[in-house]
Amino acid sequence: MTEVNDYDGFARDYARNAETNPYNALYERPAILALAGEVTGRRVLDAGCGPGVQAAQLAARGATVTGVDLSADLLAIARTRSDGTFLQHDLTEPMPFADAEFDLVLSSLVMHYLADWVPTLREFHRVLVPGGRAVFSTHHPVMDLRAAGTDDYLGTYEWEEEWPRGGRTMRMRFWHRPLRAMFAAFEQSGFAVSRFVEPDPDPAMAESSPRDFANLSRRAQFLLFELVR
Ligand SMILES: C[S@@+](CC[C@H](N)C(=O)[O-])C[C@H]1O[C@@H](n2cnc3c(N)ncnc32)[C@H](O)[C@@H]1O
Repeated sequence: MTEVNDYDGFARDYARNAETNPYNALYERPAILALAGEVTGRRVLDAGCGPGVQAAQLAARGATVTGVDLSADLLAIARTRSDGTFLQHDLTEPMPFADAEFDLVLSSLVMHYLADWVPTLREFHRVLVPGGRAVFSTHHPVMDLRAAGTDDYLGTYEWEEEWPRGGRTMRMRFWHRPLRAMFAAFEQSGFAVSRFVEPDPDPAMAESSPRDFANLSRRAQFLLFELVR
């Protein structure tokens, strides 16, 4: 079983922060939803759905959403946000879904929790219809170096960070890997890369959080891929 990090104990504080935090609301979310594109009538799997903010937005755009996550407490919050199906599941394990059950897999800021991407990507591939897409965001490996305080770009290794949430500290553990390891995992899991995005912050951030806007206009924080089955 994968390390849960502290999501269960911090579910409410994490969920409240994720809704409005500029890095989520005005940087990652607009980018992943743009990559998801038109979802009306599509069966979408939100892998690592957390508190269900993306799931609710996908449902509002006409998708039928299934969300999975390791954290029971975050899933409970996700269920209050939309009518999708939400299941507790560890993405390092085989998924409880039939082959070709989804048109789209979306995964926001989850892959950097996984030591090995290949088994999870193979499962995404299996549950997608032929021609289906997986879109996901993850830490930019350049950002990892800055945050972990190392110059080891080419290695694959775990590093730790602490997040202040609701007056307490969430301890996070992430996996760094270089771009060549990401592309090797796509190939080993049978996916072709169709789009690669290094997002810009939403222009609204310049007004609401000028310091974050300045940082994100210079420093790559996340990157996104669209993969085709
Ligand atoms: C940064 S949060 C992102 C949540 C949500 N996708 C969002 O963008 O608001 C990372 C999520 O990944 C989940 N997670 C981490 N490792 C996981 C695993 N092995 N299986 C399933 N979920 C996992 C956590 O419980 C948490 O909800």
